[in-house]
Amino acid sequence: MAALLAMAFASNGYNVIALDADSVPNLALSLGVPRERAEAIVPLSKNEKLAEERTGARPGEGWGILFSLTPKVDDIADKYGIKILDNLKLVVVGSIDASKEGCMCPAIALARAFLLHVMIRRNDVVIVDSEAGAEVFGRGLAEKFEFNVTVAEPTVKSLSIASKLIRMANELGVAKNVLAVNKVRDHIKALRLVAKVLHPEAPPTHLIRWDDNVVKAEEEGLGLNTLPRNSPAKEDVFHLMSKLISFSKRP
Ligand SMILES: Nc1ncnc2c1ncn2[C@@H]1O[C@H](COP(=O)(O)OP(=O)(O)OP(=O)(O)O)[C@@H](O)[C@H]1O
Ligand SMILES: [Mg+2]
Repeated sequence: MAALLAMAFASNGYNVIALDADSVPNLALSLGVPRERAEAIVPLSKNEKLAEERTGARPGEGWGILFSLTPKVDDIADKYGIKILDNLKLVVVGSIDASKEGCMCPAIALARAFLLHVMIRRNDVVIVDSEAGAEVFGRGLAEKFEFNVTVAEPTVKSLSIASKLIRMANELGVAKNVLAVNKVRDHIKALRLVAKVLHPEAPPTHLIRWDDNVVKAEEEGLGLNTLPRNSPAKEDVFHLMSKLISFSKRP
């Protein structure tokens, strides 16, 4: 979802940063970065040295200072990101590799600093791909979101969790919530389920069809940039992008 959304915005001329804030980052692969290159990415939270070299700021001064030295999205992307396209860069925030490193707190704090200090201009889009769960809300990362797109599957279990996450986002002041139900095989059933589980206040809901092309790409370890043009999931996510853009123009 995050990869396809990032590609959708980029193909519409936006400057996009895809920020992978998952503790098991895999957005690179979905964006089509070859596996060896993806595995060699050192996430920002483990790379203060790189930040020091590139910005001149001293580690330990905090990521906020580092980012405020380079507040433009393009510059940040050039300094810390991996170029996918001219207008699409990937920044990997953190990863938990060892069993003892149990916490994503530093990485989430870093992602938060990133969002606090980056100046978002009209044509910039930052997409934060986070894992499912409360951590992203609990640590205040979402405070800076314009949108929260909660991705769920068309099951009672998944939609119940989505409902809780949407409530948390609301409490944090993320005004614009969208529910994206992915892997949909039966639209009517999916919408009925949403109405039932999220009753009485389902946010604007967008359905994304089940897509064998996605399964095939994943099986072969290919990025979603290889999906055919008429791939249903791709079409639906591109449509979601248009909705977000018009939703963004509303007060
Ligand atoms: N529309 C779709 N149709 C069919 N399969 C899909 C679709 N969307 C996602 N998948 C499959 O579901 C699996 C999980 O997708 P994805 O990696 O996007 O989920 P995730 O919740 O972000 O997982 P992770 O926690 O590993 O990041 C993948 O194998 C992907 O190929
Ligand atoms: Mg993911």
